[in-house]
Amino acid sequence: MTNKIRVKNSGLISLQIFKDYPDGNLAIAETNKSIPFAIKRVYYINNLDNPKAIRGKHAHKKTEQIIFCLNGHFTLDLDDGKTKQTLTLRNNYSGVLLGKMLWHNMRNFSKDCIILVISNNIYKENDYIRDYRTFIKSIKKSESHI
Ligand code: TYD
Repeated sequence: MTNKIRVKNSGLISLQIFKDYPDGNLAIAETNKSIPFAIKRVYYINNLDNPKAIRGKHAHKKTEQIIFCLNGHFTLDLDDGKTKQTLTLRNNYSGVLLGKMLWHNMRNFSKDCIILVISNNIYKENDYIRDYRTFIKSIKKSESHI
């Protein structure tokens, strides 16, 4: 993941690591240290056996999340309503901030892919925008208020 992040409301987040190879590496996600918010929820995605699976396909109104690839690799498409960017996430110690109003898709999962997501909010379906046209309309509306 060498690309610089160009979309709004995103960025790379590096975890604190203690490398003890060959006895294992320890990676730490701690509120207000490597993680720039108070962690309220953690979830993971595994068993990505369908090569055609596309996950995500939404933006969040307020929730902020950080997405990590703990094993394998996958493709992450980001879209802030103006700029689009595609990244490959691989097993390493950096995650990508999925800030508010950032449309994201995850796809092209390796079979051994394991995704970890850390969130600043509990699950609230009414915080999701799942329709792309609604997303673009609300970006345009917020710009017209600036
Ligand atoms: P969704 O966030 O759309 O998954 P993804 O972005 O990985 O494609 O969630 C899929 C389903 O799981 C949806 O019905 C809501 C439910 N869900 C919860 O109940 N709690 C949660 O914390 C999450 C992330 C999802």
